[in-house]
Amino acid sequence: MSKDHLQQNASPTIRFFSGENVPLEMHKVRVVQKLFLPPIEERLQAVRRAGFNTFLLNTREVFLDMLTDSGTNAMSDAQMGAMMQADDAYAGSQSFARMQKAIEDVLGKRHVLPVHQGRAAENIIAQSYVKPGNVVPMNYHFTTTLAHIQVNGGKIVELVTDEALEIKSDNPFKGNMDIAKLRAVIAKEGVANVPLIRMEALTNLIGGQPFSMANLREVRKVANEFGIPLVLDASLIGENAYFIKQREAEFKQANIADILLEMCEQADIVYFSSRKVSSSRGGAICTNDKKIFDNMTVLVPLYEGFLTYGGMSVREIEAMAVGLRETTDEAVIDQSPSFIRYLVERLGKLGVPAVTPPGGLGCHIDAMGFLSHVPQTEYPAGALAAAFYLISGVRGMERGTVSSIRDENGNDILADVELLRLAFPRRVFTLSQTKYVEDRLHWLYTKRHLVGGLRFVEEPAVLRFFVGRMEATSDWPEKLMAAFRADFGDSL
Ligand code: F0G
Repeated sequence: MSKDHLQQNASPTIRFFSGENVPLEMHKVRVVQKLFLPPIEERLQAVRRAGFNTFLLNTREVFLDMLTDSGTNAMSDAQMGAMMQADDAYAGSQSFARMQKAIEDVLGKRHVLPVHQGRAAENIIAQSYVKPGNVVPMNYHFTTTLAHIQVNGGKIVELVTDEALEIKSDNPFKGNMDIAKLRAVIAKEGVANVPLIRMEALTNLIGGQPFSMANLREVRKVANEFGIPLVLDASLIGENAYFIKQREAEFKQANIADILLEMCEQADIVYFSSRKVSSSRGGAICTNDKKIFDNMTVLVPLYEGFLTYGGMSVREIEAMAVGLRETTDEAVIDQSPSFIRYLVERLGKLGVPAVTPPGGLGCHIDAMGFLSHVPQTEYPAGALAAAFYLISGVRGMERGTVSSIRDENGNDILADVELLRLAFPRRVFTLSQTKYVEDRLHWLYTKRHLVGGLRFVEEPAVLRFFVGRMEATSDWPEKLMAAFRADFGDSL
């Protein structure tokens, strides 16, 4: 890797002469992909065909794809260059050796099990540790983590502080675990029934909210006291480290590389989806404990591939290695949070309800505040995702009750929060595209009374949000389209 590449920038939000704080792109665009904005009539057809589920739209029908940052971040020239130098080999590839070295340097872990993506790591960890009846405490669940623990007969308990679920807050660390609650769970369940404690960096489902280093250290202490392995889901660790630097006094002068190392040092097992550090597949389980490593090793060839590729192509492994190193660069990991902060602050001025403080990963719109007339049983976040796509061509993701599950009586377990997530994949969208999102959200907010609910017409039993299909509970989509045409005429 060239010296230039390692030259690092500080966080690049710039104060303009006008007084406005504007996020500045610390990169230039060298490869582009053409986008299309289909007219609203086509968008209505598309959203119907997709069963009002944005996962089922084709990108040809989408203008700005804000579904996720997973596998959609922009690649750097250094990543693309490294991919050309990959070492094709079934076993013992030099690409794997470079990835292992990157993990050791950036995350401080020597033993590495490669997997094809994050949930594959969760599968292996859950199969190795979770027995029927076990309880896994965590700050908050992620959909695939929960599914793997349940498939193995375990349960989860979520131990964020009560404040974490408040949409509007100035708590800088809503991802923190409540230590008193953790102690209470261990006392109630008994140490033998708690195989792991899991901390998720940048708690995805509650709005990309970080935990503090102080909190992680406290969790570590409890884990030590009871001899329970601490697992860190590091899929979004870069942004969490960035917020530690921004918001935790002790780390104001620290560099991101040191913060990352200290975070990982607290955990016995660190796993991640590398779909978030490059635009490809991949992930890994990492540890410094040989026993833990040996305990899980056997499952990698069984489910993933040989121990030096784990289901990834060598090119993806190279991109991951460089992407991990880039995670130590503040100007890289700040790109997405600074655009999110910009959008959340502007929406706040317009009265559009969004999760605060602004987090990482995406701008999270509060669907229960936005569509307060739509009952939770009619999926306000799903309805908002469909309505926003219809009027803008922007695809977001429902993070609410559609993403939840049903109880044993078949009733929806209502989500704690109903969010429309508008993801900002790293270095992908420009400021004018961000302003378009702001403008169309503002317009929709003024017409929010026109948006109605959804009901399921096809509902898979597991992870229903991926492929389930819904319909509108009335003709609200047509009415919304008519209002759009009345205000915007023939404009797209
Ligand atoms: N953990 C976290 C915190 C995640 O955000 C994800 C994926 C996973 C685990 C699973 O990783 O997709 O590679 O299997 N999050 C994506 C998202 C899907 O859109 O938020 P994976």
